[in-house]
Amino acid sequence: MKPVLGIETSCDETAAAVVDGDGRILAEAVLSQLAEHAPFGGVVPEIAARTHLRYLSRQVSQTMAQAGLSFADLGGVAATSGPGLIGGLIVGCQFGKGIALAHDLPFVAVNHLEAHALTARLPGLVEGGAPFPYLLFLLSGGHSQCIAVMGVGQYVRLGGTADDAAGEAFDKVAKLLQLDWPGGPALEKIARSGDPSRYPLPRPMMRREGCDLSFSGLKTAVAQTVAKIGTVLSQQQRADIAASFQQAVVDVLADRAGHAMEMIRAREPAAHLLVVAGGVAANQAVRAGLALAAAKHGFVLAAPPIRLCSDNAVMVSWAGIERLKRGWRDGMEANARPRWPLDTLEAVPG
Ligand code: KG4
Ligand code: ZN
Repeated sequence: MKPVLGIETSCDETAAAVVDGDGRILAEAVLSQLAEHAPFGGVVPEIAARTHLRYLSRQVSQTMAQAGLSFADLGGVAATSGPGLIGGLIVGCQFGKGIALAHDLPFVAVNHLEAHALTARLPGLVEGGAPFPYLLFLLSGGHSQCIAVMGVGQYVRLGGTADDAAGEAFDKVAKLLQLDWPGGPALEKIARSGDPSRYPLPRPMMRREGCDLSFSGLKTAVAQTVAKIGTVLSQQQRADIAASFQQAVVDVLADRAGHAMEMIRAREPAAHLLVVAGGVAANQAVRAGLALAAAKHGFVLAAPPIRLCSDNAVMVSWAGIERLKRGWRDGMEANARPRWPLDTLEAVPG
């Protein structure tokens, strides 16, 4: 199969990639909008949309040049069309459709969560690509879900968060500790010099049936801990709170993943892979905790390299390839969708 151009604009990364039918990455580029949003302490949707509009065209041209290809050499165009921030989604989806229309190429409107879900099937990450079915633990700034990945387009949601996403909890706690946005990486860094047992924090949902998550109680407990100290936090206190919070998250995630592994095994005895995706999967303590949990349940943890865990366009190209290989494509009527749950995806669009 000819290479596919992927476009990702659902949040604050303007990304493009070209991947061939065998999963070889011919070119990839991610332009982070961190500098644009940092002064506001979070992603500002309108700024994100305008920044995508400003840089996407150049990003795509440069990626195509890096791959040494022209549009006529492509086998299709895949663009994230949901879920996410509507302004950015419209920019990427319309831009992708424009290229497809102008060059008579098939177009795939990619579900961003499906793109995260299928990353583990890129040959090279797991020998020969992850075989179906497998368990996906998606831990990003906007989503925290356990999903049984049964096939392309076939997803069963086993559980998810009742309130904050895991990344959101990291970001909010980091704010309480006066760390820079985005908080996750900053919190992980200071937690390295902290004592994870200094501040006792709750482990919400731990040992409950199923694999649902909740982080708001933990976040509130951190806020109360900070308030109780009362004075300006010392560097050591911040490190200890960060380490205590991170340990609580790791314990909860390992417990929830354990339940999810049992749930998928009960349905699909052959399942043996636990795949993590999303920005929080970049966290080394989280990875180590999940690897242990996987081993305990006779599973293997497959954690993509960090650049493929957070938002990128390689995963979008690859999701497009998986669909195009099955003869599935979308028409020009495909539109950006801010909400698009994974378990509502039809196996065969149209
Ligand atoms: O998947 P992602 O790049 O974007 C979406 O939300 O779709 O995830 C970003 C989230 C942010 O909340 C960020 O703080 C968190 O992932 N994150 C981390 C780490 N790196 C990124 N959380 C904990 N530890 C990290 N090392
Ligand atoms: Zn994402």
